[in-house]
Amino acid sequence: MRVLITGISGYVGRSLARVLKARGHDVVGLGRSAKGAGADEHWTFDLARDDVASLAGRKFRPTHVVHLAGVLAFNQRAGRDLFEKTNIGGAQKMADYCLSVGARLIYVSTMGVLFRKNSGQPRNEDAPYGIPLNLYGRCKMASEEMLKSAQVEKGLEVAIARFPAIYGDAAYTAGWNKILRDAADRKFPLIGSGEFTCRFVHLKDVIGLIERILEKSRFKAEVYHGLSPDRLTFREWFESASRILRGSGQFKRLPEAPLRMACGVVSLIPEALRIGPLANLRSENIDYFTNPHAYEDPFTRAFGYVPVVGIEEGLNELKSGRN
Ligand SMILES: NC(=O)c1ccc[n+]([C@@H]2O[C@H](COP(=O)([O-])OP(=O)(O)OC[C@H]3O[C@@H](n4cnc5c(N)ncnc54)[C@H](OP(=O)(O)O)[C@@H]3O)[C@@H](O)[C@H]2O)c1
Repeated sequence: MRVLITGISGYVGRSLARVLKARGHDVVGLGRSAKGAGADEHWTFDLARDDVASLAGRKFRPTHVVHLAGVLAFNQRAGRDLFEKTNIGGAQKMADYCLSVGARLIYVSTMGVLFRKNSGQPRNEDAPYGIPLNLYGRCKMASEEMLKSAQVEKGLEVAIARFPAIYGDAAYTAGWNKILRDAADRKFPLIGSGEFTCRFVHLKDVIGLIERILEKSRFKAEVYHGLSPDRLTFREWFESASRILRGSGQFKRLPEAPLRMACGVVSLIPEALRIGPLANLRSENIDYFTNPHAYEDPFTRAFGYVPVVGIEEGLNELKSGRN
């Protein structure tokens, strides 16, 4: 296969490139920087600014595009405009590119498209989607909808893979790896009761699911969920991280009410002036971490690929990276 990976310098991208190269595929990377890219070739391209027509004349013609590039969940200081241009506009550009060169598209999305405000009720398989809680989820959802329409209207071959929080790769010290390590060191506070039910998936399983999708002969806008077999509350997760990474079960609790008051005060400050931790102090983020029903039944279905790395195993791997 000839695979173009957008976001190749990122956490998932660099790992995926390594695996696909080792399997003998031709791999080209795309992103603003070529940092960490182990591909045959790199295309410097800014999804938020550059014209996708500039890619069409390239000699390398991918059979598949894995679209990973984007602005991530809690990087809300990026601002709405950059979020929308990169995440929705970027997905649109890659769809147009795939249609122009006849490539199949794997769109990497998030379980966050399913996070709702807490209705106080568990949700089931039939619960309507509604509007995702945060801007990241809303952009991913809008992109998914746009891609499904492009499949129906223009014949785009697209598959969507949704993942929860991804961890693993002991050498990688950002993202959820950092949060789990901070939890073990009791630096990452638990908001409210910590009863938010949470799913993680190991990076190996993310790559495994993407590889399985690449092997499929038809893409029909189907949605795959890559979920760890374990389902724990945030509190249980942090206890596991503490126990395995450090041997201590203590953690810091942040009571919900003062946090909500702080969000109210911060909301009065113009967005551009909300820098540092203030940028993430939003009531929608507090809603996210305090909703015990956020990850309910719709997420228990795994399509086509059953993740193999369990929590203990993944955390033990992170532990080995600390030593
Ligand atoms: N990590 C998770 O826990 C998680 C969970 C569920 C879903 N996902 C999804 O998985 C995908 C990959 O996540 P990740 O953790 O690997 O992200 P990451 O480490 O933050 O990497 C993001 C990538 O996007 C590229 N990028 C950002 N803005 C760009 C732009 N304007 N133009 C071109 N490239 C741009 C970055 O490269 P440059 O800076 O070089 O441009 C980088 O390579 C994302 O779509 C994310 O939504 C991640």
